[in-house]
Amino acid sequence: MAIFSPERRLWWKEPLDRVELSWIGIAFIWGLVMFFTMIYWHFAGQQNLSNEAYRISLDVYAERAEAFAAKYTVREEGESGIPVVHPPPGSDAYIIARLWEWWPILELEKGKSYRIHLSSLDWQHGFSLQPININLQVQPGYEMVLTITPEKAGEYTIVCNEYCGIGHHTMVGKIFVVE
Ligand code: CUA
Repeated sequence: MAIFSPERRLWWKEPLDRVELSWIGIAFIWGLVMFFTMIYWHFAGQQNLSNEAYRISLDVYAERAEAFAAKYTVREEGESGIPVVHPPPGSDAYIIARLWEWWPILELEKGKSYRIHLSSLDWQHGFSLQPININLQVQPGYEMVLTITPEKAGEYTIVCNEYCGIGHHTMVGKIFVVE
């Protein structure tokens, strides 16, 4: 018990035991290994995109996304009439996250690259693109930009993976990739 101070006042000034020193060495080297693994995995794992992020006001983002959709909408989908937007290859595409939808649906061409902009108009949502499993946080006031090149045609699903209220489980969107 440490009620009384140790009799030898310099008790901490002992030389390191060899075993303790070895463990400190092992822990230090392991820390370095993990640090460099993070950097290596960024390139080899292909799970973390190199995003760009900018501050943006909700109004400006909404305006740009709506102008984008108005310009390139090719048809409407489902009962809700959500627009399907087909931007020209190489251009900027916008997705709005809000309670409880991903708006609009994008239609992209395989093998072409796009700059996908993402932001929320209310509070935090989680962008999770399935089945390729790209995940990132979507915050109001911040615009995330991902440069992507879809490699496979098909239908991709965006699920919200950040709990955002009563309709969270219905917050599902789509991206089509066409040949
Ligand atoms: Cu949006 Cu959960």
